[in-house]
Amino acid sequence: MIGRTAWRFNAVPSTQDLAFRLAELGAPHGTVVRAEQQTAGRGRQGRRWESRPGESLLMSVLLRPADRMHQLGTFSVRVGAELASEFEQITGTPAALKWPNDVLLGSRKVSGILLQTRSTPEPIAVLGIGINVSTPLELLPENATSLQEQMGQSILTDVVYEQVIAAMNRVWESLGHQLTESQITEIDDRLWLRHAEVTLQDADRQLRGIVMGVAPNGGLRIVVDGVERTVVAGELTRGPREATQQYRPENS
Ligand code: BTN
Repeated sequence: MIGRTAWRFNAVPSTQDLAFRLAELGAPHGTVVRAEQQTAGRGRQGRRWESRPGESLLMSVLLRPADRMHQLGTFSVRVGAELASEFEQITGTPAALKWPNDVLLGSRKVSGILLQTRSTPEPIAVLGIGINVSTPLELLPENATSLQEQMGQSILTDVVYEQVIAAMNRVWESLGHQLTESQITEIDDRLWLRHAEVTLQDADRQLRGIVMGVAPNGGLRIVVDGVERTVVAGELTRGPREATQQYRPENS
């Protein structure tokens, strides 16, 4: 069960590193590492994840997926969608899912997820979640918000933590090989930039197209020059941008 074993720290470089270290020491599936502050927090696409001490939920979950490694893409997308639904309920602000798993409240990012895997000596994954809980808008980066800003009242990080753990357990226990039709519809209904022209950037490669929705494997369906493809990684932005290099999707 996710969260049965949980470690809590004041300040660490990154909860991701600590979760991988605990994995090496034999920590069980579902072990959570949580911190009030990170000095070297990591985001997707090699970015840093900055947060002010005590104002965010910063946590990493060790997953020992055994033969479920290929289901992790659907797991992280569904966790993002569950968080979007929870945050919409508690804030009253419509929540969108920015593929693969960012949650936006009123077009501003409130949480991000980082999924990292290692395959030796046995396959493990660490799912890191960062949620802006109480940081005032003026102290957040542009295009970011916090739960408290959207609610107009304070909320305890511990309450958010319990909701996240419950959501993750719901998703893990109902995880299938692929997303079901109804899960796809639910995610597509929340998908930021659905049917819009986008640029997808993955490292120094770019792809321009129209977003169609999520694929059964949790990837993104995107039409490029009239041909639909499914991509499994990258960062979305609205509209066309200067191309750097031709992007080759996984399934092309
Ligand atoms: C992103 O949106 O780029 C993903 C951000 C993930 C941040 C979390 S905070 C807890 C965990 N530890 C890290 O160093 N990163 C993740």
